This record gives sequence, structure tokens and C-alpha cells, in this order.
Amino acid sequence: MNDTFLKACRGEKTDYTPVWMMRQAGRYLPEYQRVRGKVTFLELCKTPELCVEVTLQPVDILKMDAAILFSDILILMESMGAPLEFHEGRGPVFPETIRDQKSLDKLIVPDAEEATGFVMQTIKLLRKELKVPLIGFAGAPFTCATYLIEGGSSRVFWETKKMMFTNPQLFHNLMDKITTATIGYLQAQARAGAQALQLFDSWAGILAPSDFGEFALPYVQKILAALKEFNIPLIYFANNGATLLEQSVTSGADVIGLDWRINIGDAIRRVGNKAVQGNIDPFALLLPKDELRARIARLLDDAKDARGHIFNLGHGIHQFTPPEQAKIAVDAVHELSSV
Ligand code: CP3
Repeated sequence: MNDTFLKACRGEKTDYTPVWMMRQAGRYLPEYQRVRGKVTFLELCKTPELCVEVTLQPVDILKMDAAILFSDILILMESMGAPLEFHEGRGPVFPETIRDQKSLDKLIVPDAEEATGFVMQTIKLLRKELKVPLIGFAGAPFTCATYLIEGGSSRVFWETKKMMFTNPQLFHNLMDKITTATIGYLQAQARAGAQALQLFDSWAGILAPSDFGEFALPYVQKILAALKEFNIPLIYFANNGATLLEQSVTSGADVIGLDWRINIGDAIRRVGNKAVQGNIDPFALLLPKDELRARIARLLDDAKDARGHIFNLGHGIHQFTPPEQAKIAVDAVHELSSV
């Protein structure tokens, strides 16, 4: 069992810096494309045997030090009763948006084992196969709320901010419901065998710090507090969150995920006694080999005073990244950080 990742999360000494990449199971791998060619994305998410197969792919091919459960943050929203569609080239769509109390009342807080048993089954199957730790995950409530309110992905988040500023009570009611569902969902993942849990807050960075503190952070704190009893590392990743670091430290997470817009050494000085995860620009994987290795060496050096460092990208790996380039990065981290 390779537990380097878990040690780094706990701030213990490791023989080398562990590495995994957000969205490591996905379209940039031809092996994923082959599986995905036979089923829709949602069918894939709901077929445990196939989820196991694509979860293992990057671990076997690229030698990652952690696996992340193959699923999607929006699966929980669907189990709450929001019909979900994925459109080729356009991404996720929720045709029934949540913009008033009546539509919110229709959402349920599901029993996680019942409604998303396929996720728990995937976790149980994976634990029998894996020689590296398994990370479970969910979206953070603010990020999930934006998809329900906007009806899909957005650029300006007009409807989300309109609700926050004109009907804050409704916004908080929605956040409360997502939070309760997320607690049940992540507790079920921990019981099924997830060895660490990550909250993805992909859109937190669109908020002013005071609004983040009022509308988003308290719900993250509530979720992470409800997971403490499992004694597994909790990771909070707020994308575009360099302006929110001091607040993110109060989330209750053991590990703070960092996007690439901040120097990791500066971030470490600001987060203090916490492990960090990150943070090269996903597009830096396109650099020529020598430059990529040099950039990774610099990053490892900048991160040397961290309480623990897990190497990762500053956001998900892009679908057109050549897998060989990702492999160069993984090998470089292992080689350059070995003591
Ligand atoms: O390898 C892993 O990281 C595990 C699997 C995983 C997926 N999505 C698979 C996926 C994880 C952890 C996610 C998280 C996720 N999903 C987030 C948070 C992280 C982030 O990127 O900010 C968000 C915002 C989503 C919602 C989502 N899912 C969008 C916006 C899209 C379409 C756009 C895109 O990037 O493809 C998806 C689809 C999706 N989720 C795919 C995969 C592999 C591609 C689907 C396909 O095969 O066609």
C-alpha cells in the first residue's frame, strides 16, 4: 500500500512528493475515450464496473499516488430531483432551473445509499483493487447552486448573483438544502471506504471576500465539521481563490487546494500550518520537457516549507493534453522530490 498521499495530507514526512491531477480520469486518455465511446457520460457515471475501470486508468498509466473516484459533482444534484442532461460540446444542462421557493421545495434531500448507491458500490469495488488511497468528492454548495440556478455553466452568473442580492433568504434556503444533501452524500462515501474527501468550489473565485464569507464559506464549514468524525483528510479547493486564502483556512479542511494564479510559496506563508495541494497551470503541461521539469523543480523548491505538499495542477487537466506530457510531469515530481 502506497500511503504517501495520506501522509502528506497529515503533514507527516514522506520519501517524495505525492502527485495526482484533478480530472485525471477523462477525455485526454485514449483508454477513457474507448470506454466512453460505448456509453453516454451519465451511463458511465452510473455503471460501477466502468467507473472502476476509468478510475484505475490514470493510476496505472501515469503512476499517480492517489485515485479519485470517477463520478461528477452534478450527480448529487440529479439525485435531489433536478433532471440533468449532458450535451456534447455544451456541457451540463439543468432544464428545470431553481429560481423560486416553489421549485426549491421540489428538491429532496435523498438517502445517499439509496439514491446514489452506484457511487458507494464503485468505492467498495475500487478499494479492493487499489494500491493507492482513494479520494471521494462533492461539489461545494456554492458551485452546485450556480449550476441549479443558471441551468448549466455560466460566464457572468447573472441569475446567481441576482438571487443573492435580491432574495438572499431564498439563496440561503437553497444552500441549506444542498449542504444537508452533501453531508449525507460524503458521509456515505466515507462509510463506503473513501480515504480522503475533496470539496470542489470551482466558482468561489467569482465572489467578493465578504460575500464568500456570507454566502459560501459557512456551508463549507458545516459540511467539513460533519465529516471530522471519520478522521480522514479533508481537502477544500476554491478555484481562483487566492483572494480568499485566509478565509479558506477557517473552512476546517486539512489540506488547502491552490489554483495556479498564486505562487505556492506565497500561499504557504499565508495558510500557515496546513498542507497544500497544487498548483501548476494545467496548460504548462504543454511546455517542452526541459522547461516543464525546470518549472516543476522550482515549484517543489517554493513548496519546501509547507506542512505537507501534494503536487497537483491548479485546475483540471485539459482534454487535449497529450498523456505523455502528463507522464513527464508525474515522473519529474517523483524524481526531483526524492530524498
Ligand atoms: O478524474 C476525476 O477528477 C474524477 C471525475 C470528475 C469529473 N468531473 C468527470 C467528468 C470530477 C472530480 C469532476 C468534477 C466536476 N464536474 C467539477 C469540479 C471540478 C472543475 O473542473 O472545476 C465541475 C464544475 C463539474 C461539472 C462538469 N462535468 C462540467 C462543467 C462538465 C462539462 C465540461 C467538461 O469539462 O467536460 C462535466 C463533464 C465531465 N465530468 C467529464 C468528465 C470526465 C467529460 C464528460 C465526457 O466524457 O464527455
